Amino acid sequence: MAQMKKLLKVGAWAIGGLVGLIAVAAGAVFVSSNGKFNQTYAVTVKPVRIPTDATAVARGQHIAQTRGCMDCHGRDLGGAKVIEDGAMGKLHGANLTRGAGSRIATWKDEDWVRAIRHGVGPDARGLFLMPSQEYSHLSDEDLGALIAFLKTVPPVNRDRVAIELGPVTRVLLTVGKMKLAAEEIDHANLRPASVAPGVTVEYGRYVAAGCTGCHGANFSGGKIDIGPPDWPQAANLTPHADGRMAKWTEEDFVRTIRTAKRPDGTEVHPVMPRAFGQMDDTELKALYAFFKTLPAAQKGTR
Ligand code: HEC
Ligand code: HEC
Repeated sequence: MAQMKKLLKVGAWAIGGLVGLIAVAAGAVFVSSNGKFNQTYAVTVKPVRIPTDATAVARGQHIAQTRGCMDCHGRDLGGAKVIEDGAMGKLHGANLTRGAGSRIATWKDEDWVRAIRHGVGPDARGLFLMPSQEYSHLSDEDLGALIAFLKTVPPVNRDRVAIELGPVTRVLLTVGKMKLAAEEIDHANLRPASVAPGVTVEYGRYVAAGCTGCHGANFSGGKIDIGPPDWPQAANLTPHADGRMAKWTEEDFVRTIRTAKRPDGTEVHPVMPRAFGQMDDTELKALYAFFKTLPAAQKGTR
C-alpha cells in the first residue's frame, strides 16, 4: 500500500512536471512567434514610376491576374479568406481597394512599393503570408504597371480582417518552417530585373521566380514549407526522370497549366494556383524553355 502510494506520488509529480514543461514550451512558442510576427523592418524604398496610361494599366491587370493576387485578395480585390481554422488561425488577404474598411486609401506610391516589393506594411511590420519574395524581383516596369492597375480598382467596402495566428502557425514560425517574406528578402540588395517579354530562357527565369515558393529554389518540388502540413508535395519541374518535364512537349506543358489537366487526364491538385492558367503564350512557352535548361535534380532536393 505504501509502495503504491509512493508510486502514485511519483506519477503525479511526473505528470505535473510534464504539464509544466508543456506550459513552458507553449509559452516559449507564443513569445517567439509573437516576436517574429511583430518584427519591424526599416527598408529604404527606391521610387518606382507609376504610369497612368491604359496600356500600362492593362499590363498591370494581367500581372495581378497571373501572379495570384486574386487568390488571396479576392476576385474584386476587396479582401478574402485564405485559411481560417483552429490550427492555422485567421489568415485573410487584405482589402486592396479604396473602399471603407481598407487601409490603402491614403497610401502614397512608396507604401505600395514597400508592401509588394519588400513585404513590409506602412507600420514597418512584415506582412504575414503575403508572398513578396515572389514579387520582389518584378521589374520596375511591371511593378509600376501593377500599382497603376491597383489604383484603378473600383472601391469595395469590406473590413480588413487582422491576421490571427493559430497554434500550428505559431509552431511553424518558431521552428523556422514558416517565414515572413520580409525576413527572407535581402532588402538592401534588390536588383529588380528589367527583362523584355519574349519566348526566351531569360524571360522564363523571370516569370519562374513566382514558382520558387512552392517548387523550391532549384524547382525540384517536394514538401512545401510555406503551406499548411496537409498540402501535397510540389511536382519536380526539372527534367529529372522522377518528374514529368523530361517527357512533356511544350504543348503538353502549356495545356497542363492552362487546363489543370495533365496529358494522361489526371487533375493537378488545386494547391497549384489556377491563376497561372491565364498566363499568355509568351509567358508559358518561356517558362517551358527555361525549365528545360535546368540541371535535372531529384525531387525535393531544394
Ligand atoms: C498567398 C496569399 C497572397 C497572395 C498570393 C498575395 N497576397 Fe497580398 N497579402 C496577403 C495577406 C494575408 C496580406 C495581409 C498581411 C498582414 O496583414 O500581415 C496581404 C497584404 C497585402 C498588401 C498590404 C495591404 C494592407 O492593407 O496591409 C498589399 C499591397 C498586397 N498584399 C498586394 C498584393 C499583390 C499586388 C499581390 C499579387 C501580385 C498579392 N498581394 C498576392 C496574402 C497574399
Ligand atoms: C502555392 C504553391 C504553388 C505555386 C506558387 C506553384 N505551384 Fe506548381 N504545383 C504545386 C503543387 C502542390 C503541385 C502538385 C500538384 C499535384 O500533385 O497534383 C504543382 C504542380 C505543377 C505542375 C504539374 C507538374 C506535374 O508533374 O504534374 C506544373 C507544370 C507546375 N506546377 C508548374 C508551376 C509553375 C510554372 C509555377 C509558377 C509560375 C508554379 N507551378 C507555381 C504548387 C504550386
